[in-house]
Amino acid sequence: MQPKLIIHGGAGSSLSGKGGLKTVRESLHSIIKTVYELLLNGASATDAVIQGCQLLEDEPRFNAGTGSVLQSDGQIRMSAALMDGASQRFSGVINVSRLQNPIKLAQTLQDQSDRVLSDVGAADLARELQLPIYNPITELRLNEWLQERQENFQKNMANVIAEAAGRGTIGVVALDRQGYLAAGTSTGGKGFERIGRVSDSAMPAGNYATAHAAVSCTGIGEDIIDECLAARIVVRVTDGLSLPAAMQRSFQESRTNNRDLGAIAIDATGTIAWGKTSEVLLAAYHDGTAIGDTLEWQGIDLAGSL
Ligand code: GLY
Repeated sequence: MQPKLIIHGGAGSSLSGKGGLKTVRESLHSIIKTVYELLLNGASATDAVIQGCQLLEDEPRFNAGTGSVLQSDGQIRMSAALMDGASQRFSGVINVSRLQNPIKLAQTLQDQSDRVLSDVGAADLARELQLPIYNPITELRLNEWLQERQENFQKNMANVIAEAAGRGTIGVVALDRQGYLAAGTSTGGKGFERIGRVSDSAMPAGNYATAHAAVSCTGIGEDIIDECLAARIVVRVTDGLSLPAAMQRSFQESRTNNRDLGAIAIDATGTIAWGKTSEVLLAAYHDGTAIGDTLEWQGIDLAGSL
């Protein structure tokens, strides 16, 4: 099959300047190019997703891995999940600290009997694997937190993605040459949240895949959980709806329920799709012929597809 790939660097309320748009576009397109090359060379969808998530986690512009937002107590706690569509197997870590690539821990958990670990358990696993201790904090995030502390934490989430507000997450969905699908999602959370708050990113609500479709979500975690968005779209496709129809219906419901979220998806036929109720969805894709993105997508439609 012709491989397909779509990635996201979060959703937001605006990309307020050309500078923001240009740099985000360059980052996303460069990662798409690298990961699509892997798929063309025969990498599995799961390996491509892991590699794509790592590159996005390492890009400080996005709220995952390096550049993650700080929680209310000034600490970074990250969550990530990986789902292999062929085996229909989910693995993830919740609120893990001092690590460069949370998606690597999710990868390690794929073939274990305990497949979703939270803070202490995830830290134990990182120690067992002898992963180096890493501080993902950036000056921008620290200053943002210090400013908020001065203002007594009036905001309910951090400004992430340079000029675009909130709702930061990264995600990758891939279809490989064998026709297998996979999805991965990683996040630093909302920013300024209570200690112990659990993100949608390491739940099937935010990241889900079967042999029929794979989805990664971004946006306000609580809204994504309330819609159970990733699993909802995938189950609709599994039950026979086309991916574009499943996206339209799911995003119409999200809009009716006043949710603030977005998602990227691919189905087993190679259809690529995206949707949002947020103003901006920072997504880019490779359809087998060319790279494209949704950065200037202002349509009134709730979902698009190729
Ligand atoms: N969607 C990321 C979060 O709310 O944690």
